[in-house]
This record gives sequence, C-alpha cells and structure tokens, in this order.
Amino acid sequence: MSVIPALEADVLRRQDPEVADILLGELARQATTLQLIAAENFTSPAVLAALGSPLANKYAEGYPGARHHGGCEIVDAAERLAVERARTLFGADHANVQAHSGSSAVLAAYAALLRPGDTVLALGLPYGGHLTHGSPANFSGRWFDFVGYGVDAETGLIDHEQVRTLARAHRPKAIVCGSIAYPRHLDYAFFRSVADDVGAYLIADAAHPIGLVAGGAAPSPVPYADVVCATTHKVLRGPRGGMILCAAELAGRVDRAVFPFTQGGAQMHTIAAKAVAFAEAATPAFGAYAHQVVANARVLAAQLAAEGLHVTTGGTDTHLITADPAPLGVDGRTARGRLAAAGIVLDCCALPHTDSRGLRLGTAAVTTQGMAQEEMQWIGVLFGKVLRGDLDAARARAEVRELAAASPPYPR
Ligand SMILES: Cc1ncc(COP(=O)(O)O)c(C=O)c1O
Repeated sequence: MSVIPALEADVLRRQDPEVADILLGELARQATTLQLIAAENFTSPAVLAALGSPLANKYAEGYPGARHHGGCEIVDAAERLAVERARTLFGADHANVQAHSGSSAVLAAYAALLRPGDTVLALGLPYGGHLTHGSPANFSGRWFDFVGYGVDAETGLIDHEQVRTLARAHRPKAIVCGSIAYPRHLDYAFFRSVADDVGAYLIADAAHPIGLVAGGAAPSPVPYADVVCATTHKVLRGPRGGMILCAAELAGRVDRAVFPFTQGGAQMHTIAAKAVAFAEAATPAFGAYAHQVVANARVLAAQLAAEGLHVTTGGTDTHLITADPAPLGVDGRTARGRLAAAGIVLDCCALPHTDSRGLRLGTAAVTTQGMAQEEMQWIGVLFGKVLRGDLDAARARAEVRELAAASPPYPR
C-alpha cells in the first residue's frame, strides 16, 4: 500500500519536485536505516491518510457543539469520536485530544492546576526529566519554582525516600511523575500517597509509556493521577500530538486551559488521525505489539550488556533503554556518530550522577516493522562490533540495509 498516494499519482512531483524529492528521500531513509529513537514509531497508512485529508483545511476553535467557526458539524463528529475512543481506551472520565504536542499538554495541565510562582516537584533534568519539568530554558523553569528529585546512584531507580522528604520540605502544589529516559515502570500508587500526604496535585507525564498502557504492557497512571499528559506519537503509534486525561471534576479546567488559554484552533486532521490510532490501539493486535515491544527491549538490553555496555538500572520494563558505552572506550556522542554511520539512528542522553552522555534507544519502531527477539540480538551484536571498531562503517551499513529490507515499515 502506498503511504504517499499524492506522490504516486505524481501530483506533488509535477507541481513541486523539490518537496517531492524530500518526502521520498525521507521515506527511503526511514526504510533503509534502523529507527531506534525511543520517541519514534511508524504510524499506519490509515493514520497518514487522516493526516493528509481535507480536515486539514478546517478551522475549529472551541469544542464540539460550541465552536467559534461555522461548518464544524463534520469535524465535530471526528473530535467526539476521538474523545470517546480515548476515554474508553484508558478508562478515563474525560479526555482532551486538542493538545498540539506533549509539551502543550503539560503546559495546559500546569495552567489548569497552578499559578505562576507555585512550587512543583518533578524528576530533575539530569535524571531524565523533560524540558517541561523545570528547565530554565523552558516556560516551566521560568514560571514555576521547580524542585528536582533524582535516582539512586547505585541502582538508577527513582529515590522514593528523597521524593517523600523533598515533598514534605517544600510542600509543592503539584508533583510530576514521568520521564524522557526512565526505563522502569513508575509506582503511581507511591506518588499518589506522597501527593496526598502533602496536599499536592499529581500530574503524570506519561508521554513515553502511554502506548504500553493502551496495550496492557505497563501500569496505568489514570486511577492515580489528577491529570495525565501524554503524546500520541510514541509507542501509541498515532499522529504527532498530545492528549490529556483527567477526572470529571477537572474536565472544565483542563479544557479551558487548552482552549482558549494556551491554544487557538484545533488541528482537526490530527484529531481524526488520533481517533484512528485509538481504534487501532484498542485491538488485540496492538496488545500483542505492546508486549512484543517490551520483550524486544529486554532482549536488546541484555545483549548490549553482554557486549559490555553499562545498561542503566540493569535492564528495562518498557520500550526504552539507556546505556553507557564508556566500558567499550567510547563516549556517548562518539558512539552515536559511529552508529549513525552504520545506519543505526538513536539519541544521546544525560547519565545520572556523571558528567558524561549515554545512549538512549527504544524498540517501538523496529517492532512495528515486525522485528522480534532474533533481530534484537543481532542489533545488539552489531552495536558491539561497531563501537569496538571490529566492523567498518560500510560493512555495518550494508548489514543494516539488509536487515531493514527484510522488514519494511511500509510493505508495498
Ligand atoms: C515525558 C515527556 N514529556 C513531554 C514531551 C514533549 O512532547 P512533544 O515533543 O510532543 O512536545 C516528551 C517528548 O519526548 C516527553 O518524553
């Protein structure tokens, strides 16, 4: 099935060959290299079809049945469907599907619950917190007083004792749990108990694990958090965007925090694509996918450890792995460069309690391609060879090309 029908029909190529070449070039890059960026995935052709639809033309400020623009009857149906599907999928009282991104979702959660200057307790950025968890370069660090908790230097696990101590000392208005790099399940019941202890709201930023939650492969924050923020484009495999789940009592505050407080018109093509992705995520096939994502990450983490990398926390419960390549004599940035030359695409990340950078990778995209434990083991072995310099970049690149060709992300 073609994923770029307009290109196949030559519409874009005839009108704008420069852009057509860029689209096809990116399609080829994605199909011939390994996408191990933990936040990426391959959406289905149905999701791409909704994204490339005439719903992109529609202005729709407001919410279904209460829009500031005319002609919204059809797109209202798309948003109602997306909201209903999200509520059912996650067992939430209320869902807002308008957030343009994960960061917009977090901004809206803060806007719904906090006032500028309030104290917020969140995972510190050196330990895997997101920019929206108090970075001085982000609105969050500028407008709120963030206090950071960390992870244990030995185990790499969140230091629960420190979370409780800091909460009692600083009496935050909100506690945020969620990370860009933490590979283990979060204990949402623990965070709820600390929030109750100090009278704080609990905000779960589940941008990474929400797809695993949908597939039953990770615990859900919904029963514990006052507000759950998420992205729809990571393991969840939907379009690039955000989502907020909350209890009925907070529905009005959350909706007003999204529109009109932090956003204007909703992106109706993206909302329709979110509806498509939620329906896909409700199938048994997606449950099997989510469990395979975790099984793959576990095998890959074990093989990386066998190759000599230091795997943070000793493994993973999720799609996400962080590792230090230093035992192989390379730092994170050099390792990322060597792997990129071989066609293995991943990120660097902060390593807790060190000044050096590590590697952050995930198995969501390669699992969508149909790769399983055998391929993960092979990828781990290739990491070792490339990082030790046992295999030159050209040979490694050829091997990656062959592996990717055997499991194309968009089979024709
Ligand atoms: C925990 C967390 N929060 C927020 C975000 C922001 O999402 P976006 O890039 O869509 O703004 C991310 C993205 O990786 C994330 O991992």
